[in-house]
Amino acid sequence: MGHATILRGGRLIDPVNGIDEIRDVAFRDGVMAPPESAGGAEILDVSGLVIAPGFVDLHVHLRDPGQTHKEDMGTCTLAAVHGGFTTVLGMPNTRPPADCPEVVADILERAVAQAHCQVLQTGALSVGRWGKELTDYAALKAAGATVLTDDGSCIQDAALMLQALQRAKACGLPVIEHCEDDAVCAGGVMHHGTVSERLGLPGQRYATEDLIVARDAVLSAEADWPIHVQHISTAGAVEMVRRAQARGIRMTAEAAPHHILLTDEAVEKYGTNAKMNPPLREETDRLAILEGLRDGTITAIATDHAPHTAEEKAAGMETAPAGIIGLEAVVPLCLTALVHGGVLTLPQFISTLTRGPREVLGLPVGSLETGAVADLVLLDVDHEHELCVADFHSRSLNCPYDGWSCRGRAVGTLFHGCWAVSPRV
Ligand code: DOR
Ligand code: ZN
Repeated sequence: MGHATILRGGRLIDPVNGIDEIRDVAFRDGVMAPPESAGGAEILDVSGLVIAPGFVDLHVHLRDPGQTHKEDMGTCTLAAVHGGFTTVLGMPNTRPPADCPEVVADILERAVAQAHCQVLQTGALSVGRWGKELTDYAALKAAGATVLTDDGSCIQDAALMLQALQRAKACGLPVIEHCEDDAVCAGGVMHHGTVSERLGLPGQRYATEDLIVARDAVLSAEADWPIHVQHISTAGAVEMVRRAQARGIRMTAEAAPHHILLTDEAVEKYGTNAKMNPPLREETDRLAILEGLRDGTITAIATDHAPHTAEEKAAGMETAPAGIIGLEAVVPLCLTALVHGGVLTLPQFISTLTRGPREVLGLPVGSLETGAVADLVLLDVDHEHELCVADFHSRSLNCPYDGWSCRGRAVGTLFHGCWAVSPRV
């Protein structure tokens, strides 16, 4: 029997197991253990802190292989553990893309050697993510892929998407979708509205997202296989997911912190650090996303952590790449806006980073019962501070959050029974 540790005096919030109470939490040999059995344990006083299962981010661009000048396996997962995450799901738009077993296996092998947390990897739905020909899902699964998506792009052909769902069902892989109709999008670089008109920039209409969400609800019912909407951005899409769920369609959705916090007005203030895909929308959309989180239509918060260099982001709204980082900002930002802002209770918020992602993945992550892997995060939910982006561990620092006043943050992250970020208690 190895060395045991007891965390004493903290408030354990574990939504998967329906727990919210002050109690001792113990781990030994990398797994959760009953505190009463942990004789001779080291005792760490965590009173005043919240203990939660390690957070799970369903939407991370690791950039490795192929764009390690932006981020790599080490920097991305270091940012993750500093943000409170112990599991991240890597998107397939690496270079080369994760559309074949070799690339998926390479990423997962290097993750075991180099990552600071657990890395799960998506496989592409289509060859090259071009939306023309489906990849070999059984082979991707055998190589370790746990989810399918073409994130960054979207299969345009409904018949091909239906076939993708049928094949995913045959091998039991969840499907998650970046919902974007290319023809309707027509090269829009921000939301289509008064701000895009004022700035003279090509805009993306609501229909760009709404058409694909509606299509996918229909296809999910047809294939009888769940579909998860990535980075939902419009009020119309939230309402369609709500109605699909009411009709028994297994459709889920995630929201990104930038869509929770910002609107298209941010483009005027932050320029390309407010350029992402899908774009920032209007206040009515932001409020619809908050309501979707509150009423349980949206069950996950996922960062869409998308590192790009300062030089790339300096290229201007029309040509700079879309996306911002989020791993080290999401917990302070969302504790402030959602929990202290009165939108979600603390257990509801923690559920969006544990139970919600777990249900999409269908994997045993995000819970702390005895025998579970000892992945957990300590939160100081009242710590007042200003975000200092220069202190982030990501290789790229592209985001608009520098200097934002926040209340609450992660103050320690345990991964497989070892402190990836030592507790500040
Ligand atoms: O903003 C985005 N950035 N949206 C995407 O779909 C892709 C991502 C990226 O890879 O940079
Ligand atoms: Zn995307």
